[in-house]
Amino acid sequence: MSVPAEAPKDCDLCPRLRQFILDQRQKEPDWFNGAVPSFGDEAAKLLVIGLAPGMTGANRTGRPFTGDWAGDLLYATLGKFGFCDGTYDRRPDDGLTLKGAMITNAVRCVPPQNKPVGAEINQCRPFLKARIDALPTAKVLLCLGKISHDSTVRTLGLKLKDHPFGHGTEYQVGNMTLLSSYHCSRYNTNTRRLTEEMFEDIFARARALVDA
Ligand code: URA
Repeated sequence: MSVPAEAPKDCDLCPRLRQFILDQRQKEPDWFNGAVPSFGDEAAKLLVIGLAPGMTGANRTGRPFTGDWAGDLLYATLGKFGFCDGTYDRRPDDGLTLKGAMITNAVRCVPPQNKPVGAEINQCRPFLKARIDALPTAKVLLCLGKISHDSTVRTLGLKLKDHPFGHGTEYQVGNMTLLSSYHCSRYNTNTRRLTEEMFEDIFARARALVDA
């Protein structure tokens, strides 16, 4: 049976993540608390691939990267490089649309401590593959962080040893470029492992590849 590009909201393929979300529903019944669907343009040329929903961000609001620190930087940068219409306001009904871009996550359900285990990353990979396959116009896969990068390399049937992760690494995969960046997490930006300028340089490259 073919796998859809979006996991069902009540996906139960990963028992640990399922239980974590069910517990969270008790604590915060008004939050989204489910597998977060991708967001953006179905004709996207740029697919941004994050790690997994943040607890108080995407897991709360139901839109990837919406409502947390990582999203503030990601949406601001997407806007600077012409991938947004409207203004990002940290809520899914802010009217923002993505232009030529889509955002997804390598793992669709919020993991404890933002750390999915290997089995969960593997279990969710068919959705990532289906997401990529459903975007025939995609020219750039932009992976945020090593987990996203490694899962995408595996999704594409490539070997990790030939495609190691690094900030700014680029690999040609058929018609697409696999471009990777350090994740725009609060930790990475606070420690200045990733600066705004570094992140903008990645998006400038993505823009150039999309427009080429
Ligand atoms: N929010 C997401 O949706 N994904 C991330 O990787 C981080 C925050």
